[in-house]
Formats: sequence, C-alpha cells, structure tokens
Amino acid sequence: MKLDILLGLQWGDEGKGKVVDILTPHYDVIARFQGGPNAGHTLEFEGHKFVLRSIPSGIFRDDSVNIIGNGVVLDPVLFMEEASDLEKSGIDLHKVLKISNKVHLILPTHRLLDAALEKSKGSSKIGTTGKGIGPTYTDKISRNGLRLGDTISGFEKSYKEALKRHLDRLEEIGEPVDPKVLEDMEKKWLGAIEYLKTFSIIDTAYEVNGLLDKGKKVLCEGAQGTMLDVDFGSYPFVTSSNTIAAGACSGLGVAPNRVGDVYGIFKAYCTRVGSGPFPTELFDETGKKIRDIGHEYGAVTGRERRCGWLDLVALRYAIMINGVTKLIMMKSDVLDTFDEIKVCNSYRIGSQITDEVPFVMDEKIEPVYETFPGWKTDLSKITDPGQFPEAFKQYIKFIEKETGVPVVIISTGPDRAQTIVLSEIG
Ligand code: GDP
Ligand code: IMO
Ligand code: MG
Repeated sequence: MKLDILLGLQWGDEGKGKVVDILTPHYDVIARFQGGPNAGHTLEFEGHKFVLRSIPSGIFRDDSVNIIGNGVVLDPVLFMEEASDLEKSGIDLHKVLKISNKVHLILPTHRLLDAALEKSKGSSKIGTTGKGIGPTYTDKISRNGLRLGDTISGFEKSYKEALKRHLDRLEEIGEPVDPKVLEDMEKKWLGAIEYLKTFSIIDTAYEVNGLLDKGKKVLCEGAQGTMLDVDFGSYPFVTSSNTIAAGACSGLGVAPNRVGDVYGIFKAYCTRVGSGPFPTELFDETGKKIRDIGHEYGAVTGRERRCGWLDLVALRYAIMINGVTKLIMMKSDVLDTFDEIKVCNSYRIGSQITDEVPFVMDEKIEPVYETFPGWKTDLSKITDPGQFPEAFKQYIKFIEKETGVPVVIISTGPDRAQTIVLSEIG
C-alpha cells in the first residue's frame, strides 16, 4: 500500500487541518512528520472549532490511528494542554494516538532561547512563533537533543547537561534566567513528561511500515509550508524542519518508493506570518480587505498575517520540489467580492523576466501580474461544481494550465460542509 502526503505549498496556514479532516474518512492512519507546536491547524464541523498544534488532525474519528512521527518536536507542557482539552471534549486520545520514542523534546529553556535569540537579532528577527522550535532542532542536529524515549530511564544526566548548556548560553546573550522562574517551569515540564508517558510510546517506523504492509492507508499531514522549508524556503526566514514531501520519509521512516499521491494545498491568494520575503504582498486597501474577509490572523500567535495575490512562480516551484500530483485550492470564497483578481505568473528582477524563484528573494523582485475579472458570487453556498460562475471556472483552469496539475478539491468556507470535491480522492 502507498502512503499519501498532504502539505502546504505556500507560507503555511493554507488550511491543512480542514483538508486532513475532509480526507480522513478515506484513510486508516494520519501521521505528523515534522514541526511541532508552531503549527496551528483549524478544523470546523457541526458547530465545533478545534485548533490542533502537535496532534494529528485525524483524531476525531475513533477508528483512526494517529501517529506523531520521529521528525516532530514535542513540548510536553503544550502537548498536555492540547491533549487534556481534547479529552475533556470527549475524544479518547489514549486510544487513537501513538507517539514515536524518537521525537525530540522541547525544553522550557529552548523556548527562552528562541525568545532571546529573536531579541538579539533586532530588526532582522525571523518572527518565530516563540515555541522553541529552532533551538530544539539545533540540539537535535548537533547531537545534543533529548528524545522522548530517553525519558524512560537515566535521563537525569543528559537533561542536566542540556539545561546547563542552555543557561550558559542565555547568560551569554544577556538573558539570565531567574532560578525561581526556572524551578516553576521545570516542575511543570517534568509533570507533563509523566503525562506524556501515559500514551503509547513506540517505534513508529515499524508501526507505519507494518500498517502499510497490512494494506492500511496512510496520510501524512504536513505542517508549515514549502516556502518555510529549511532547505528550499526563503532562508533564513524559514522554520527549522523539512516541510516538503521528502520530510515525510525522514520524519516517519518510510522509503520514497512507498509514496503515492502528494496533495498540495494553496490558498486562492497568499499569506505569510512573520518576517521574510513575500513578492506579491499587498500593502494597500486590497491587502487589508483580504485580511479582513479571510480573518487572516495567526491560529497560534494571533498575529496579523501579511496578505497578497497568488504567486504562481512560488507555487510551481513548490509543486516541483514536492512532486505534487493533486492540487487543493482553499479560501476561494474570500475573493468573492473583488472586481479584479490578480495572479503573479513571473518575476521581473531588474531588466530580466524569470519564472524561477531566485536564490535571493528580496524586494528587487517585481511581480508581473495577469488580471482576471472577479466572479462576484457567493461561493460559500455552492454545493455543486456545475453552479460555479464562469469567471471562477476560468481562474481554476488558468491555475491548472500554468501548473500542469489538476485541482481536485475547492474549499469555499471554513466548515467541513463547505468543500467541493471535483474528482476522486483518497
Ligand atoms: P493550517 O495551518 O494550514 O491548518 O491553516 P490554519 O488553520 O492556520 O488557517 C486556515 C484558516 O482558514 C482557519 O481559520 C480555517 O478555519 C479557515 N479556512 C479553511 N478553509 C477555508 C475556506 O475555504 N474559506 C474560509 N473563509 N476559511 C477557511
Ligand atoms: P501551520 O502548520 C504559518 C513561521 C513563523 C516564522 C517562521 C519560523 O499552522 O501552517 P518557528 O516558530 O517555526 O521557528 O518560526 O515560520 N511559521 C508558520 N507560519 N503557519 C505555520 O504553521 C507556521 N509555523 C511556523 O511565523 O516566520
Ligand atoms: Mg496554521
């Protein structure tokens, strides 16, 4: 059996949570493979709204298996908050969730380091979510990290060593930690580790491969987006993991030849939260209108998301890097009232026109736009693709022509019900 991957093609917040929820009935297993509580995946159905951060979006079906793979970084305290809220709302999380013994743990001092390092960067800060993601992956790659499996026995020594290293570094940056504050944070963190240990902690590589061998269908749920990938995104304004399709292989322990479909999600426009290049960003009333209608505020931090037109140069690049086989377009309804809709199809850099993402993505990039008439129709009420207005059909057709990939799902509102499936999925 093949494993399918669903991931964001832009700068995150494309609507991955909603789509995993839509696709879940077609799969037996949903697995997260990278990122951590920097993610905020929103699901809305039957009058409920949930924002998931570290937990896969398949948990609302009690016959699903949900896996947090080795590529994820987990904050025990935030995990406990998220998990206990879900359990309070009636989800039997202990039944449906399995966690890799190889996930790396976010320590309270990783979060302090994240904040201190951002502060020390001044105006060139990344604008991180402040969840300790960068420092935790740094420790993992420099072979100093602590894994969940390490907490089972003899973890005291490596914990103390990590703590000392972090405290020394914080002192060095001029952000010493008050011992009382540290003591409180430590107590909470150690308590949360005990809670984490009540879950099924296993070697998820054997689990996922075993499930595939048994003919089970696996969907990998990406976090962040391709333009935030540590190798292929707008470095250094990126997150610290591989958000691309290849990340699912290393973040779960599955071979590339087991990958089947790659679902690429994008919004009908673009957003970005945090600093860094964004060629089609709109600083005018149009950008504000997209933000207002799309409620473009961060699910984790509440920060304003920067908004702009769809960028096909970046989208084609993301499709290439990920081997996307099926496209899913989100938030189409947000553009319902616009007279004109623009799409960037190439970049002008000085006197050159290019359709490739350059090494340096900076303000020298001038987007070259194609303009489409708005569809001026309330898409959120449409239930059948036959009812789509002609201008909207042309918009989709243009994207398919320019990317060479079919659009299989159109999302026309935040609710599960506001979804139009154009061709077979799952
Ligand atoms: P994720 O991180 O990719 O899962 O996306 P987020 O949950 O951070 O952000 C997507 C936001 O858009 C959430 O508030 C969703 O409820 C909302 N949303 C998802 N799809 C649609 C849609 O088609 N239309 C509208 N208006 N909102 C949507
Ligand atoms: P989901 O999964 C949007 C951004 C941050 C910052 C950069 C680095 O909900 O799409 P980090 O805390 O990871 O070190 O921050 O990445 N970022 C996201 N932006 N959606 C996300 O996740 C994000 N996770 C991180 O704003 O610019
Ligand atoms: Mg999000």
